[in-house]
Amino acid sequence: MEKIRWGIIGTGKIASTFARTLAAVKDAVLYAAASRTKERAQAFAEEFGFAKSYGSYAELAQDPDIDVVYIATPMASHFSDAKLCLENGLNVLCEKSVTLSAAQLQELLSLAGEKGVFFMEAMWMKCRPVYLQARRWILDGRIGRVRMVKADFSNLVPYMPEDRLYRPDCGGGALLDLAVYPLTLAADILGGEPQKIVCEMDISGGVDLSDSIILSYPGGAHASIFAGFELPLRNTALISGTEGSIILGDWFHCTGEAVLLDSSRNEVEKIQIPDQFTGYEYEVEEVHRCLREGVLESQLVPHKGTLDVMRIMDQCRAQCGLVFPEEK
Ligand SMILES: NC(=O)c1ccc[n+]([C@@H]2O[C@H](COP(=O)([O-])OP(=O)(O)OC[C@H]3O[C@@H](n4cnc5c(N)ncnc54)[C@H](OP(=O)(O)O)[C@@H]3O)[C@@H](O)[C@H]2O)c1
Repeated sequence: MEKIRWGIIGTGKIASTFARTLAAVKDAVLYAAASRTKERAQAFAEEFGFAKSYGSYAELAQDPDIDVVYIATPMASHFSDAKLCLENGLNVLCEKSVTLSAAQLQELLSLAGEKGVFFMEAMWMKCRPVYLQARRWILDGRIGRVRMVKADFSNLVPYMPEDRLYRPDCGGGALLDLAVYPLTLAADILGGEPQKIVCEMDISGGVDLSDSIILSYPGGAHASIFAGFELPLRNTALISGTEGSIILGDWFHCTGEAVLLDSSRNEVEKIQIPDQFTGYEYEVEEVHRCLREGVLESQLVPHKGTLDVMRIMDQCRAQCGLVFPEEK
């Protein structure tokens, strides 16, 4: 595979950013874009330079010349869109949160296995160099035994009834849209199977406007997470151990900076890695690497890690009685 031909399903905000990224990544070909309407597909393809456009997702899924499909639709559509692609033998990179529930993800993973195709959640945070360096510090024992992860992701999101974030039928709410990042961080650092999960949600109009989540681990380590649509927080992350701490600064999931502190709170090391393009190039390069090597799963974003986080989010929703319309 010299060049990798990408298809995109959905033509919204992140699809546009992703298309700009593909245009800048060596060996990525903007091959086909699909929308629910022919007009939008054509306009999107023209704007970003895709060779083909399709007025339905099903048509794109039947194009045998696509190497991998990026799914950029609302959460509630991911399951059916990914299933469509997998059933047609296409490799898939699917936006976060990857599905509404762990059961849906499990079904997609089984299908991907049966078809022998690549599947990955577009958890770009886990592919970023700064994140990988912070993990390396932890693995190298630079902060000792990790005892705590504290991370927030909360933005002011004005109420708009048509916005996918406020629509239960789109899988809206802060848990699946925002909390998925700090939960992924906690699960990656402390483990994907906490012994206890406590979640409080503020639910209105069928979606969670904010979530406070505590994960407790055997041995006493904790993660403390806040996510929501009502507070403009700085969205930082602190990973603390017996011999030091790591601070992932503002917008921790996409930061270009990480600071390592010793046990006296002195700064020992600081890394700053500016993005080459949009910051999504690292996940694109990871997909390219996996496809070239013929592996069906990324080591940076492994299936189990994604499944662990979906299971945690299932439990959070169950504790607070948050059920999506299609689950009723
Ligand atoms: N990785 C990141 O940094 C990041 C950032 C933002 C969002 N995301 C994820 O990307 C996905 C899309 O988010 P977005 O902000 O791009 O959303 P958006 O702007 O609302 O776009 C979603 C697109 O999905 C398609 N779609 C299919 N069914 C739909 C429905 N029932 N209602 C509305 N649109 C529907 C539409 O494209 P057509 O009309 O062309 O079919 C629409 O343009 C979500 O899963 C979100 O979590 C990730």
